[in-house]
Amino acid sequence: MTDKQGKQAQAEKLLKGAYALKNSKDNARYYRDFAPIYDEQFAEALGYSYPSALAGIYMEQQQPDDNTPVLDVGCGTGLVAEALTSNSKIDGVDLSADMLSIAETKRCYRQLYCHDLTTGPGPLPGDYGGVVSAGTFTHGHLGPDALKDLLVVGRPGALFCIGINAHHFEQADFKKAFAGLLENLAISDYTEVVCDIFTGSSSHVGDQAIVTVFRKM
Ligand SMILES: C[S@@+](CC[C@H](N)C(=O)[O-])C[C@H]1O[C@@H](n2cnc3c(N)ncnc32)[C@H](O)[C@@H]1O
Repeated sequence: MTDKQGKQAQAEKLLKGAYALKNSKDNARYYRDFAPIYDEQFAEALGYSYPSALAGIYMEQQQPDDNTPVLDVGCGTGLVAEALTSNSKIDGVDLSADMLSIAETKRCYRQLYCHDLTTGPGPLPGDYGGVVSAGTFTHGHLGPDALKDLLVVGRPGALFCIGINAHHFEQADFKKAFAGLLENLAISDYTEVVCDIFTGSSSHVGDQAIVTVFRKM
């Protein structure tokens, strides 16, 4: 096995572990060990292109004057904020204090909140003009309930750009959740953009996310 293949195999193991998480306590424990190696041994080794793809979709959709401040949901080590080059006021929220301590070193965030989003919006303010997320609505992490709870953090008209792992989208029936939100006039202008989660040569190339784009009514 070459050095590159060894690194990929290790990164695939890390991803498998993350998908198998069961609850918030598991998540906090797992990401405590994952945080110091996340950028290099996971993101770089597996060609994790999802954060920059998500940021690109968001920047294409945003109206220059109405999208700040932005909230990065499940911000982890800060890869989405690093790619959001057109935005200066970005806050991040994450369950893991260890992931947040790496995010802090990137100097991309105005404010970071350590909060479990399965318990509702907690300390988050309700005036965001944009809400983005990559990698957090996935197996073993957040489901449709957290998405509905998050709506309160955006002001009316806020642009949401929420990436959801494509298998998780099916399994957790996000389709039904979005149909309900549209029917109740909680959101408008709903579209979906399919994007690759990884580039390169690992066995995860081909994994996709459905990036849901909508506005809060
Ligand atoms: C795969 S990482 C994605 C991080 C970053 N967005 C990226 O794309 O690199 C998933 C993140 O979701 C966070 N997370 C998982 N469950 C959470 C919860 N209940 N509340 C808040 N954050 C959570 C984890 O701590 C982790 O940082």
